[in-house]
Amino acid sequence: MTAARIDVHLEPSWWRTTLEHDVRTGLVAEQRSIPAKWFYDEIGCQLFDDITKLDEYYPFRAERDILATRANEIVAVAEADTLVELGSGTSEKSRVLLDAMADAHVLKRYVPFDVSEETLRSAADQIATDYPGTAVHGIVGDFDRHIPLVPIGGTGMVAFLGSTIGNFEPSARKRFIADVVAALEPDGTFLLGTDLVKDPDRLWAAYNDAKGVTAQFNLNMLTMINRELNADFDLDQFEHAADWDADNEWIDIRVRSKVAQTVQVRDLDLVVEFATGEEMKTEISAKFRLGGIAAELEAAGLAVVEQWTDSYGDFAVTLARKR
Ligand code: SAH
Ligand code: AVI
Repeated sequence: MTAARIDVHLEPSWWRTTLEHDVRTGLVAEQRSIPAKWFYDEIGCQLFDDITKLDEYYPFRAERDILATRANEIVAVAEADTLVELGSGTSEKSRVLLDAMADAHVLKRYVPFDVSEETLRSAADQIATDYPGTAVHGIVGDFDRHIPLVPIGGTGMVAFLGSTIGNFEPSARKRFIADVVAALEPDGTFLLGTDLVKDPDRLWAAYNDAKGVTAQFNLNMLTMINRELNADFDLDQFEHAADWDADNEWIDIRVRSKVAQTVQVRDLDLVVEFATGEEMKTEISAKFRLGGIAAELEAAGLAVVEQWTDSYGDFAVTLARKR
């Protein structure tokens, strides 16, 4: 197997300090919350992969359909020889773009970027094997800190797929887009996948699947804290909650305490009381409108080139160029 080059920017001490900080801050706050990036340990990555295969979870398939239909067009307009993918996960959808770049004889480099080292290493090695002659340079990093270190190069297209941008609060989203724009060379392009506002019942079902995989994904956050910080969250005493917030146009995802209970986080010397029904926020998943996406990108210094949707109008892929 051809090996990919991998740069790890998440040194173990940073990882540990940040986890301790995020869990302590999140548990002592009045409105408890833990950042969504902590979902993605090895089990969380596998559970997310399972989610993408659920009947109710249409975003993955809708985006893949758009890419399959439009990849040649995207590649022709972007004129990039490097594909950078932020939050690349298993890199499954990137292959559609890489194939189109290879067919157009422009593909030189693939740069996947993810917080999950195991998932990134395995995806990057597999791509290096499957696309011989393409330099694969993976980056293990955090969106919050490491976008400026991504080696995009002069003719790079930065893809941010899956509507992962919807997992940022609006202020973090603005900062993230500004970081991407700053990292792009003039004429570099940004390819953004976004889930669209739609019938609330379908949105609700996508985050409350009948098999309970999304619930497992959400509660796995507690398993991770138990393992990493020597805590004693009892998973039978917490439940998954996900609801459509129509004012903010996002799905609000929490874990909810079923009973009044005490949780100890031994490594943090922390004892936390949960009342019956008390919730801890784990994620938002914002849904977008075409005009809103274009306005945010334009405000950040990008010129929108094209927006494509799938045939049901469920999902959008937007290509924008740095001015
Ligand atoms: N792009 C893929 C995967 C989406 S899942 C798709 O469209 O299917 C979200 C991905 O973002 C996961 O692989 C997760 O590990 C990564 N991620 C989440 N928070 C991150 C952060 N703060 N920094 C870097 N990667 C992150
Ligand atoms: C990665 N991200 C775009 C997913 C989403 O739909 O917001 C994460 C997810 N959370 C629950 N289900 C899927």
